[in-house]
Amino acid sequence: MDAFVVRPAGPLSGRVRVNGAKNSSLKLVAAALLAEGRSVVRNVPDIADMRVMAGVLAHLGADVDHDGDAWSVDVPAVVGTATPPALAARLRASICVLGPLLARCGRARAALPGGDRIGSRNIDMHLGGLERMGATVEFGPDFVEARADRLVGADIDLEFASVGATENLLMAAVRAAGTTTIANAAREPEVADLAAFLNAMGADVRGAGTPTVEVRGVGELRPATHQVVPDRIEAGTFAVAAAVSDGEVELEGVVPGHLRLALDKLRAAGIEAEAGDTTLTVRGRGALRGVDVVTLPYPGFPTDLQPQFLVLLSQAAGTSMVTENVFDGRFSAVAELARMGADAYVEGHHIIVRGRRRLRGATVRATDVRAGAALVLAGLVADGPTVVLDPHHVDRGYADFAGRLRALGADIERRGVPARAGAA
Ligand code: EPU
Repeated sequence: MDAFVVRPAGPLSGRVRVNGAKNSSLKLVAAALLAEGRSVVRNVPDIADMRVMAGVLAHLGADVDHDGDAWSVDVPAVVGTATPPALAARLRASICVLGPLLARCGRARAALPGGDRIGSRNIDMHLGGLERMGATVEFGPDFVEARADRLVGADIDLEFASVGATENLLMAAVRAAGTTTIANAAREPEVADLAAFLNAMGADVRGAGTPTVEVRGVGELRPATHQVVPDRIEAGTFAVAAAVSDGEVELEGVVPGHLRLALDKLRAAGIEAEAGDTTLTVRGRGALRGVDVVTLPYPGFPTDLQPQFLVLLSQAAGTSMVTENVFDGRFSAVAELARMGADAYVEGHHIIVRGRRRLRGATVRATDVRAGAALVLAGLVADGPTVVLDPHHVDRGYADFAGRLRALGADIERRGVPARAGAA
């Protein structure tokens, strides 16, 4: 089995270019299914999840290829309507082909999606919205099937500002008859990015990025070319790496405005964060202070940065409370960090962190993409070597994480470890 082996190497310094957003890229290539012909998506990160998504699209008949970070998705006149269970089960975003396929083909069967085990992750809002647009929905043993001869625009009120449901419904609505209004829509930059791509394809989507999105259905869409928005979570992860190591790192190719609350929290913790137009310089200033963090849908503090912030807070003075409101089971980093000496525990949906505990290297396990990244960050400041098992979770969302940290001065390598290390 392989693992990241991380040793303390002092403050990180240098520059790192931030990739395009994982959680946008995955949906953009799904949206390409809406139009026959070749769409091109640029600035796509080289991550494992994209390769799985490409497999899902290829199974549906699309010709998916990439040249560097530019991915082309060539969609035939007739596409398949059922996603492959083995691939779909590896990826949460696979459910996002349901909306475009239904819009395009009048029926779609999506294998039940997988992805990180961070909570119950229902799809009831995706399906309820499609039903509001006139689809019938049926469950099989490991799939869900939706049918509609023609989707009809509807008023949809989401119970929670779900990113996936907003995106799936948006992609279904663009070719529906009439107008769809999604209220309490997710406002994440990735939703606005998807809407921009859909509009480039000839759709009429207004208000994406606000709580109310209006979609006027159009008959046909055409292929388009689009540049993916920068990955604010990757940027935030490198920012925490700089902060916790008391280093100075310049992030390039970011939209600092997408990280406003995370930057406020870093500053409150005693970190300098200087935003340019597309750059962000993060600088440690010695002593860290504890801060409370509450995760919420955008523009709230992102749940996808919660585990990384736990590492920072474990090194800060005082006691911090982190409240997780988005996922009901995103706490696995806590026990692993505790194995490294962090004083942190879960109380309901809160995580209490008593800071300034010296972390010691240990063998820990990545259980999902962000928890895995957080454990690597903990290894940067722990005494002795930290072995992070199951690094494939990190590969799902970060392109060459170890290599890019190494370029900033980190001592991290990826190597085989004896299988008994996995019993830890
Ligand atoms: N939810 C429901 N019913 C639904 C849909 C969602 O109950 O029909 C619940 C979920 O169980 C969860 C909450 O609503 O408790 C929020 O889920 P949401 O739909 O917003 O999340 P998602 O679309 O499944 C995406 C990202 C996640 C990110 C969240 C929130 C992708 C592929 N995943 O998930 O990214 O945490 O939005 O921002 O876009 C990650 O990158 O590490 C990651 C987990």
